[in-house]
Amino acid sequence: MAKRILIVEDNPSTRNLLTLLLEGEGFETIQAKNGQDALEKVRNEFPDLVLLDVMLSGMDGYDVCHELKNDNFTRLIPLVIITNSEGIPEKANALDSFADDYITKPFRNQELIFRINSRLRTKALEEEILVSNKSLLTTQRAIQATTRELDKTRQDTIYSLLVALETRDPYTSGHAKKVSKMCVDVARAMDFDEKSLEYMEYASILHDVGKIGVPYNILMKEGKLSPEEEREMRKHPLISAEIIRPIGFLERIIPIIRSHHESFDGSGYPDGLKGDQIPMEARIISIVDAYHAMVSDRPYRRAMPVSRSINILQSVSGTQIDPDVLKIFFDLLEAENIEAALAEQKQSTAS
Ligand SMILES: [Fe+2]
Repeated sequence: MAKRILIVEDNPSTRNLLTLLLEGEGFETIQAKNGQDALEKVRNEFPDLVLLDVMLSGMDGYDVCHELKNDNFTRLIPLVIITNSEGIPEKANALDSFADDYITKPFRNQELIFRINSRLRTKALEEEILVSNKSLLTTQRAIQATTRELDKTRQDTIYSLLVALETRDPYTSGHAKKVSKMCVDVARAMDFDEKSLEYMEYASILHDVGKIGVPYNILMKEGKLSPEEEREMRKHPLISAEIIRPIGFLERIIPIIRSHHESFDGSGYPDGLKGDQIPMEARIISIVDAYHAMVSDRPYRRAMPVSRSINILQSVSGTQIDPDVLKIFFDLLEAENIEAALAEQKQSTAS
C-alpha cells in the first residue's frame, strides 16, 4: 500500500513540484498550504509522514512541529523539515528537539526521497516493536493468569487432602496447620530458599495424611497400642507417600513425608535411616511434630507444660532427633517467648 505524505508548503508552485516528485516515486500525497491547515490535516487524515517547510506565513513550521510532537495522537508521525540554510543556526535546537530529520534548500530530489524512505523504514520498525511489545505483554499476562490458576489448584489439592484427613482425625488436621507454620519458621531460620520453604510447608501439612489409611479404632484408641496396632500405625508414613505419589507437583516431598518418623540414630521407621540420610525437612518435622503433640491437649491427656516438653526433647537429642536442628528450634521458641512476654507486659502497662 502506497505511503501517504502530507506536504506543508505555502508556495503553490513549490507545493506542486513536491507533489509531482513524490507521486512519481509512488507515494500518495496530501497538501496543506499553511500551519493551521497542516495541523487539521494531520489530525483528520493521519499521514505516514509530514514534509514541512519551516518558512510558512502565520503559524510557522517550528510551531507546527512543536504542536504535533506534544500531542500523543500525532507525536509518532515522522516529521521531515525543509529549511533554508540561513534559518538553521538560530533554530537548530528547536529542530533537534522536535523534528525527526531535516533537509536544507537547495536539495537534490534523490536526497529528499532517500530521507523520506529512511524515516518511513524507521517508523515501520518502531511499529513492529510496538506490536511485539504488546503481544509480549499479552503473553506475560496470560502466563501470570495461568500461574495464579495453577497456584490455586495446588492449594486446593493440598487442602482437600487435609479436609479428607480432618473427617477421619480432627486433631491431626488442626495439628498439621500449626506444625506447618513452626516448621517453615525453623526452615527460614536455616536460610532455606523460597522454593524450599514452599515444599517445607506442603510436606509439613501433609506428613500425616496417610493416617486416612489407618483403621479408625487404632487411630482413635486412648492409651497404649498393642504391638499389632503399633505395626498398623507405623504404616502411615508409607501410606502418606503413596497418596502423594500421583500428584506431580508434590513429588519432591515424597521422601520427606516418608521419613518423618526416622530417628537421628537410625532406630526410627520405615527405613531405619540415620543422620544426614534423613532429609533435613523430615528432621525439622519430627522435632516440631513431637513438641506440638506434647504441648497440646489430647482427648486422653492434658497438655504438658512447655518446660517439661523441652526437657523431653533434650533427653532424645542426638538419638531420636538432630541436635543442631533442635538448637535452632529452641532459639526460635526462646525468641517467641520473649516476644510474647513483651507483648503481655505492654498490654498490662496499657491497661
Ligand atoms: Fe506421623
